[in-house]
Amino acid sequence: MRIRWGILSTAHIAVNRVIAAMQKSQYGEVVAIASRDQHRAERAAKRLAIAKAYGSYEELLQDPQIDAVYNPLPNHLHLPWTLAAMEHGKHVLIEKPMTCTAAEALQLVQACERRPNLKVMEAFMYRFHPQWEQVRTLISQGAIGALRSVHVWFSYFNSNPDDYRHHPQMGGGGLLDVGCYCVSVARLLFKKEPVRLSAMMELDPRSQVDRHVSALLEFPNGMGSFTCATHMAFGQQVLIHGERAAILVEAPFIPPADRPARIILKREKTGEEILVPQADHYTLQADAFSRAVMKNAPLPWTVTDAWNNLRVLDAIKQSGETKAWVAL
Ligand SMILES: NC(=O)c1ccc[n+]([C@@H]2O[C@H](COP(=O)([O-])OP(=O)(O)OC[C@H]3O[C@@H](n4cnc5c(N)ncnc54)[C@H](OP(=O)(O)O)[C@@H]3O)[C@@H](O)[C@H]2O)c1
Repeated sequence: MRIRWGILSTAHIAVNRVIAAMQKSQYGEVVAIASRDQHRAERAAKRLAIAKAYGSYEELLQDPQIDAVYNPLPNHLHLPWTLAAMEHGKHVLIEKPMTCTAAEALQLVQACERRPNLKVMEAFMYRFHPQWEQVRTLISQGAIGALRSVHVWFSYFNSNPDDYRHHPQMGGGGLLDVGCYCVSVARLLFKKEPVRLSAMMELDPRSQVDRHVSALLEFPNGMGSFTCATHMAFGQQVLIHGERAAILVEAPFIPPADRPARIILKREKTGEEILVPQADHYTLQADAFSRAVMKNAPLPWTVTDAWNNLRVLDAIKQSGETKAWVAL
């Protein structure tokens, strides 16, 4: 048995990265793509060798030969179209951030409780790259001593006014776009939720979405800090400090496609380079999702985890707006 995927929209990330990666998965096949525009759906289907093209998302959801849906719509459409897909009995892989707010995420948590037979997961693909298993193993084996600090940077430049990221009502802004990774990785490493935080936020004067956010997060077992920005030169990095050594993850979220990912274990006087073989985290994500569906087994990441990430993102926004510490 192979999972039959339907793709909701001709989103850039879908047609340029995720569909091809899903087509490499041994557990699934992409059988249909939908767009608001029939011709656009047909063009994408032809280019990507997908059998069926639909001119509306609703038609795709009504197709009984689709088991699971990939939802890469603009952020404000993640919730309604995921709920609609679940109503049609489809499993759903939702692009990050799962929703725009924690309140919306809670609606999905509750929908999943009502439909426990359906698998729903936020597509934080980076977690499926083997470099993170390597980092977590190093930490759990004591390579850096007790974990104390996680410092994250994720930035890039995007000034396209037509991009949904420049529209507040569509879930735009850098915090939801790339800040969500920064929060996710800090929570992943500390294995706990932050207890309070403080953030600074700069808005784009034209679009009024946040374009530069820096935050300090107090965890019960250490401190996290990050900067995310969408009008700044590209950069990505995670620096993890323990009591005795540190780990630098050079390409934490977008690892190189053509060479191994590099992690550096930094001791006081030496630096040990660890190369993690090249892998397609989108394919690994599709594999993990499909396996959970086929075996009716738990997914590696729950919607409750996504809800918790959004609770932190909400609090960062609140702190940025009020310029005050926020307790969680
Ligand atoms: N995991 C990753 O690596 C990664 C990377 C980039 C983005 N993402 C996530 O993927 C999602 C999509 O990002 P993207 O950059 O691919 O977006 P995008 O290119 O703007 O695509 C969004 C698609 O949604 C459809 N759509 C439906 N209603 C729309 C509306 N009112 N306005 C605009 N588009 C509408 C359009 O497809 P049709 O016209 O065909 O219906 C459009 O192509 C976001 O949630 C983002 O956070 C994830």
